[in-house]
Amino acid sequence: GKGAAMVTAVAYRLAAQHAERQRILDTLRLSREQLLEVKRRMSEEMKRGLSKQTHEQTSVKMLPTFVRSTPDGTECGEFLALDLGGSSFRVLLVRLRKEKTHKVEMHQKIYSIPQDTMQGTGEELFDHIACCISDFLEYMGMRGASLPLGFTFSFPCHQKKLDEGILLRWTKGFKATDCVGKDVVTLLKEAVRRKQEFDLSFVAVVNDTVGTMMTCGHADPRCEVGLIVGTGTNACYMEEMHNVEMMEGNEGRMCVNVEWGAFGDNGELDEFCTEFDRTVDESSNNPGKQRYEKMISGMYLGEIVRNVLVDFTEKGLLFRGKMSERLKSWGIFETKFLSQIESDRLAMRQVRSILQHLGLTVTTCDDSVLVKEVCAVVARRAAQLCGAGLAAVVDKIRQNRNLNQLSVTVGVDGTLYKTHPHFSSIMQETLQDLAPQCDVTFLKSEDGSGKGAALITAVACRVQREGQH
Ligand code: GLC
Repeated sequence: GKGAAMVTAVAYRLAAQHAERQRILDTLRLSREQLLEVKRRMSEEMKRGLSKQTHEQTSVKMLPTFVRSTPDGTECGEFLALDLGGSSFRVLLVRLRKEKTHKVEMHQKIYSIPQDTMQGTGEELFDHIACCISDFLEYMGMRGASLPLGFTFSFPCHQKKLDEGILLRWTKGFKATDCVGKDVVTLLKEAVRRKQEFDLSFVAVVNDTVGTMMTCGHADPRCEVGLIVGTGTNACYMEEMHNVEMMEGNEGRMCVNVEWGAFGDNGELDEFCTEFDRTVDESSNNPGKQRYEKMISGMYLGEIVRNVLVDFTEKGLLFRGKMSERLKSWGIFETKFLSQIESDRLAMRQVRSILQHLGLTVTTCDDSVLVKEVCAVVARRAAQLCGAGLAAVVDKIRQNRNLNQLSVTVGVDGTLYKTHPHFSSIMQETLQDLAPQCDVTFLKSEDGSGKGAALITAVACRVQREGQH
């Protein structure tokens, strides 16, 4: 009768909606062949980035870091470290002791950098940093002490020596004016001079990936790769000097900052991108830039999820088609929510309460299930893409050494990597599949940015001292 026909119609509509959602989610799913292609293109770009002839045109910059060896454990002394470019700005005092246990003592203070300062003038930004340093020295009772300083500055920099870094572009949430093309050490020195209160002796500019590799290298000498999956994403590794064509000299190795976040900026990822990636890119600080980073890192994953949810809602496939103001606001999905929603220990009821906390009105249980699925699909793709990039890096090291099989350790840091319940396992699975000739161990770094900058500073000071004798 009529009733049966209506039931059939409803069932039919539900099935059609389900199919439509899956069709959309499928655009965010990558096949093994696609991931292999990503790895292949990353390898290609890395080679082109190292070569003098092609360096200018490549998206992946392969920046020399002037870090030539991993620490040998004899580093010691007291150092100041600054850490700018992650989720917070920190000033640290690091004491390294010459003991087998590699004991490191650290004191730190975290300072916030207001959005206005991140995106104001360069002078304002560096004046703010100088103020924080001044406050820290006061707090530690160390006014007047002029300790060697390592500056972890986690943005792409062109380095001609260890204690200089010319900013190539801002990434992540930063956009201060008059900094690109300038040496960040000079910018900070000028701010310190304006303050007329204390002196600093700069020794090293350090990328967070390099700091992370060095910190883990302190514990495991096989650590020759540094990886960050946090607000942004990037990697560094030990490359043969003779391959680093941008540098004179053929002996030994140097750590190269890949700056892989920019992979895709020449269209290398276009065929894997979805409409959601394009929207996230267009509404970002830096459209067209850091395309790989925008598919992987914590600053953007939540935005991808939110855009999918908006699309589903507009199509009547979620929240009964009822759009809320909250859902339309940029940035509501922070990394921590992504990690929470996907936590296996969480019951659907709790997913629902997180969503309600975000101001989203969940009407049915299916809504919560669907949101969780969207989060899972987006995070899986991120972890797989990251694994594909890492496969290119470790295979490069293996090929450099003409090895059939390579054993290597990767030092890792970043909130997304550390807090997401599935990111690391999916990434490792992908890596193993795409680089079967590499046997990779992951070592989580304990504060690579702070400790690493101090270690690099310490090594540089030691070498300097040795040179004087
Ligand atoms: C961005 C920066 C890069 C940094 C990474 C992780 O990609 O450009 O230098 O290493 O974020 O913080």
